[in-house]
Amino acid sequence: MSATEEQSTPQETPKATRQPRRRRRTTPKAPKAPVESAAPVSPRTVAVERPSPEGFLPSARTRFAHPSEQEFAHILDFYGVAWDYEPRSFPLRWDEDRVVEMFTPDFYLKDLGLYVELTTLKQSLVTEKNHKLRLLRELYPDINIKLLYRRDYHRLLAKYGYGPLALGQVRGIERVLLSTQQVQKRVAELGHQISQDYQGQQPVLVGVLRGVLCFMADLMREISLPVSVDFMAISYYGGDNGASVRITKDLDLPIAGKDVLLVEDIVDTGMTLRFILNYLQSRSPASLKVCTLLDKRVRRIAEAPLAYVGFEVPDEFVVGYGLDYLERYRNLPFIGILKPEEAPPSAT
Ligand code: IMP
Ligand code: MG
Repeated sequence: MSATEEQSTPQETPKATRQPRRRRRTTPKAPKAPVESAAPVSPRTVAVERPSPEGFLPSARTRFAHPSEQEFAHILDFYGVAWDYEPRSFPLRWDEDRVVEMFTPDFYLKDLGLYVELTTLKQSLVTEKNHKLRLLRELYPDINIKLLYRRDYHRLLAKYGYGPLALGQVRGIERVLLSTQQVQKRVAELGHQISQDYQGQQPVLVGVLRGVLCFMADLMREISLPVSVDFMAISYYGGDNGASVRITKDLDLPIAGKDVLLVEDIVDTGMTLRFILNYLQSRSPASLKVCTLLDKRVRRIAEAPLAYVGFEVPDEFVVGYGLDYLERYRNLPFIGILKPEEAPPSAT
């Protein structure tokens, strides 16, 4: 998005609230190309890396030339995608040894190895930018760059596994704690480890509904052993001595003499886990271990041995990937932290 561009889509920030625009193309960003040779200069040798100490600049601390850039940066921050703002200028045309045309993409997303140039729908600008991009791709064939319309921000991120597309779903989320990729990678590791540890056995995976559904579905497909799967459901109710747990759906399969692996979404105080472990133990399994995706260890009251832990998480209320708040957010493909104003009082 260049500083001289006009916004043309109706849903964008009104002019009055826009930030002052910074003129960028007036200050030279690249030194002159080397002069000692008359031979054409290899473009890559003169492209200028601008200093960016952290590599990751939170949107609050960066001065953007255009509000849409700030909006895009906020989205990247939300998903935890590292970005650099205008990190590099690419000379495109030379007059003798003088660079007469340069192109500075708006963003570089180092995790995706991708430069991003934002644009509006205004046709004249799109044509000009497409032309520059074509030139850039010719001169720098290794560079991966994308011209992005506002409506495509989320689609691009979804393509790289940062979802979901339904924006309404993420309104209550403060930020992504564990991205889809992080979760998938860890689940695969756990499945691999379990497959090794239970070699020659046929474990029964027992899940506690409903929070465990995504984790169970992914984990069982990462286990390369014959497994069987069963579910229990419980509910909490307030008794005379505080909250108690009741089984609302019992196991369907017998587990006596079986190697049981209890699969949990999250262990918080550990009270639920202790109750379920006691119950399962009373059914005389040959062995009983616990695999939990998330471990909110700082809140633990009842200690329970966890054989497999996906991630230790901070004392925040998390949702997504099966976990809910009032039955919402289960279908988010990532695990996010609920905004404090949305979270249950006990979690804040
Ligand atoms: P515990 O008995 O305190 O360990 O609670 C475990 C149960 O509380 C989990 O199975 C979840 O259903 C729920 N829970 C605890 N922390 C969270 C959270 O951060 N997000 C969603 N559910 C949670
Ligand atoms: Mg649960």
